[in-house]
Amino acid sequence: MAGQVELDETLRGYVREVSLREDALLAELRRETAALPGGAAMQLMAEEGQFLGLLAGLVGARTVVEVGTFTGYSTLCLARALPADGRLVTCDISPRWPRIGRPYWERAGVADRIEVAVGDAADTLARLLDELGPGSVDLVFIDADKTGYARYYEDALPLVRPGGLIAVDNTLFFGRVVDPGADDTDTEAIRKFNEALRDDERIDLTLLPFADGLTLARKR
Ligand SMILES: C[S@@+](CC[C@H](N)C(=O)[O-])C[C@H]1O[C@@H](n2cnc3c(N)ncnc32)[C@H](O)[C@@H]1O
Repeated sequence: MAGQVELDETLRGYVREVSLREDALLAELRRETAALPGGAAMQLMAEEGQFLGLLAGLVGARTVVEVGTFTGYSTLCLARALPADGRLVTCDISPRWPRIGRPYWERAGVADRIEVAVGDAADTLARLLDELGPGSVDLVFIDADKTGYARYYEDALPLVRPGGLIAVDNTLFFGRVVDPGADDTDTEAIRKFNEALRDDERIDLTLLPFADGLTLARKR
């Protein structure tokens, strides 16, 4: 049986060469974001953005919620995968970062599908459950403060329809999840989160060792 292939820089380069389709607009947003302090570490990998768009298409997403906009790279990938009358609500605690993304969303012709909800994502998720009702969302993407993950996941579950998807970024957390010396609150939160999902009978589950770890939870 074949095992997990080692992904060194050469093989990563090959994968990108034959499959990555990041266009000029996304590349420009990536460059502008990378120039911000901590920007390169915060935004997700280009191939992960592409994969999120693929996932949105696979679940036939019309309504998407994103927790953690930052400068809106993943927002753009997801919004492009929606139909013209689709809706994406993206949450960020700060209005500063989504303001950088909006001109890119406009240039891509998808800004009218995107609503930015500024404030604590837990409040936004509660509001959306009231406004949209249970089972009204096809896909939730969680990529914000790590200590909030368990809460966002629990708030997302009733929002998502059966068969819908919750995707969660950074669930390998730079490999720190298996570092016995890593006892910071973020790493501990990710470890607890991963263990809770392993035992959660409400979902079908996979943790992809892709980018910084991408967990996919399909609501049963
Ligand atoms: C890792 S970045 C998101 C990256 C983004 N998905 C991308 O593709 O570039 C995390 C974002 O979560 C936001 N955030 C942190 N705490 C939050 C909270 N309690 N509610 C909503 N957003 C929060 C931060 O301001 C930051 O912009």
